[in-house]
Amino acid sequence: MTLGKIALISGASRGIGAATAQTLFEAGWAVSLGMRAPVMPDWAQTYPERVHLFVYDAADVEAPCLWARTVMARFGAIDAVIASAGIMIPQTPVDISNDDMAKMLDINVQAPRRLAAACWAALGASGHGRIILLGSLSGKRVKSARAGSYAVSKFAAIGLAHALRHAGFDQGIRCTAVCPGFVATDMAMSITDRDAQMMTQPEDLARVIQMLIELPNEASVAEFTVNCQLEESF
Ligand SMILES: NC(=O)c1ccc[n+]([C@@H]2O[C@H](COP(=O)([O-])OP(=O)(O)OC[C@H]3O[C@@H](n4cnc5c(N)ncnc54)[C@H](OP(=O)(O)O)[C@@H]3O)[C@@H](O)[C@H]2O)c1
Repeated sequence: MTLGKIALISGASRGIGAATAQTLFEAGWAVSLGMRAPVMPDWAQTYPERVHLFVYDAADVEAPCLWARTVMARFGAIDAVIASAGIMIPQTPVDISNDDMAKMLDINVQAPRRLAAACWAALGASGHGRIILLGSLSGKRVKSARAGSYAVSKFAAIGLAHALRHAGFDQGIRCTAVCPGFVATDMAMSITDRDAQMMTQPEDLARVIQMLIELPNEASVAEFTVNCQLEESF
């Protein structure tokens, strides 16, 4: 059991973020859950003192600094940031509107950058700060035109993860881009009619994320790909 470690998790209301929050909580972490409409999860009832809710809209540029300050005041440290809030607008780069492209880049790239920056000093002070950015296999290859605009944002998110890894390495901060294929959440369900049981389960991805953030500084993982189907390289 990991005692005394504190993680901030964006997109904690649903999907991968919610599964990660529960997994880390059950492993002994204190978790601060960023949600647009915060609700205390059922699983938190056992140790409510280890769960903190924060109203987080990823589009709000002021929110990350307030979130980091609030968590420091409540727990006194930040050891990990899991940036899971994300959106997928299924449009080709030719058809997508300028506003929708800007929105996807803001939520999928700028928002995790702002969150990491706001938590930077605390992550450095931890000596073993961890950042997980939810990239995607769509940030490694483009499989369809319709997923193309999303892929642009995820290629950028993975680039951001590598840039943060360089920026924080000397301070013990380790950043990993976690790159799944289809995960059985609302997002995947909205774009494919494949059977949810044939997709990666969010709980399994959460176990991967727990493992990544608990590895020592000397076992740094820059990218971690996870797939539910056979592809040539991933
Ligand atoms: N599912 C997949 O197949 C898959 C594959 C590869 C990568 N990913 C990535 O994994 C991450 C999590 O995806 P998911 O599958 O868990 O998606 P999901 O089930 O659709 O959940 C998306 C989460 O992001 C939050 N969110 C969206 N816009 C937000 C905003 N403006 N401010 C705050 N929170 C916001 C949602 O909050 P609300 O409840 O308030 O809407 C929700 O908690 C995303 O970055 C996604 O791109 C997913």
